[in-house]
Amino acid sequence: MEELASIIKRGGVVAFPTETVYGLGADAWNPDAVASVFILKGRPSDNPLIVHLADAAQAEDFAAEIPPDAEILMNHFWPGPLTLIFKKKPEVPDIVTAGLPSVALRIPRHTLTLSLIRTAGPLVGPSANKSGKPSPTTAAHVREDFGPGFPVLDGGACGIGLESTVLDISKTPYIIYRPGAVNAAELEKLLGKPVRYLKPGNQKEETPPSPGLKYTHYKPEAEVFWLRNSPENLRDDTLYVFHALKDKAGVPAAAENVINYRGNYSAMARELYDRFRQADKAGYRRIGIQPFPNSASGGDALMPALINRIGKAIGYD
Ligand code: TXA
Ligand code: MG
Repeated sequence: MEELASIIKRGGVVAFPTETVYGLGADAWNPDAVASVFILKGRPSDNPLIVHLADAAQAEDFAAEIPPDAEILMNHFWPGPLTLIFKKKPEVPDIVTAGLPSVALRIPRHTLTLSLIRTAGPLVGPSANKSGKPSPTTAAHVREDFGPGFPVLDGGACGIGLESTVLDISKTPYIIYRPGAVNAAELEKLLGKPVRYLKPGNQKEETPPSPGLKYTHYKPEAEVFWLRNSPENLRDDTLYVFHALKDKAGVPAAAENVINYRGNYSAMARELYDRFRQADKAGYRRIGIQPFPNSASGGDALMPALINRIGKAIGYD
């Protein structure tokens, strides 16, 4: 831990665990260190980073103001998988926010990382994958992308497995740029105000409100696609992933290339990116996933995030 903290203080980069995915950490106040995160990841320079804090008081160093609803959300969800967008203070390095007037903040829910941040200070933390690869949910995934000698704080497998919800409360209605484990219904209930998901079409705009949205993410080498309702004849080159609580007629029996989560969406979310990586290693050419019902309402809390990430792996939005 001390070694990793000193790497950060010297302007270096280390990977850290969170409850969502592993992050690539550097001193948020050191523009050169942040620049090396962009270079290491191969990340486009117009895609801003999330600053990871150890306590809510640190938000005041980055945010020009903290609106009352932000305070409610911070009290309720931090530490946890909710990233909030604030108006930035002028002293926040432009490279962190990719020149935007806003800054994204969150407190990750992982004891090891919280003590790293307490020692080393606030960290930028994009997912610790090479740009375009699935996000890492284990220390081994990070080493796959950055090499066996890369400094990783190994905190085991991530509990949630999908990146945090990114929420902008400067817009009316409040808007979720990236769905995560905290969903719109939960936010609406707490705040008593409407919360919307960004409409898929908005994500193709030249200057989308959240720049990360315009890039393809989370993509394995294998072609990902939604299965038809009556599954095709099983192919050996394809990994099949089912998840519905009740098996429809025609869902094949479990086999080496047939996975069935049977309504356990948290396991599906936790394992999704590892499945993608394993499928590539095993040489599968395709990954077929059972579609979700059209309306996610009434479904599992994780459905909007799962639909979003699988959609991105397929190649739309
Ligand atoms: O769960 C997570 O959020 C993980 C862990 C490591 O904390 N981090 C993560 O970071 O997913 P990254 O860089 O892969 O994704 C950050 C997302 C991008 O879509 C980016 O465009 C958006 O947050 N974002 C960052 N700052 C923003 C801002 N000021 N305004 C709008 N969107 C912003
Ligand atoms: Mg990412």
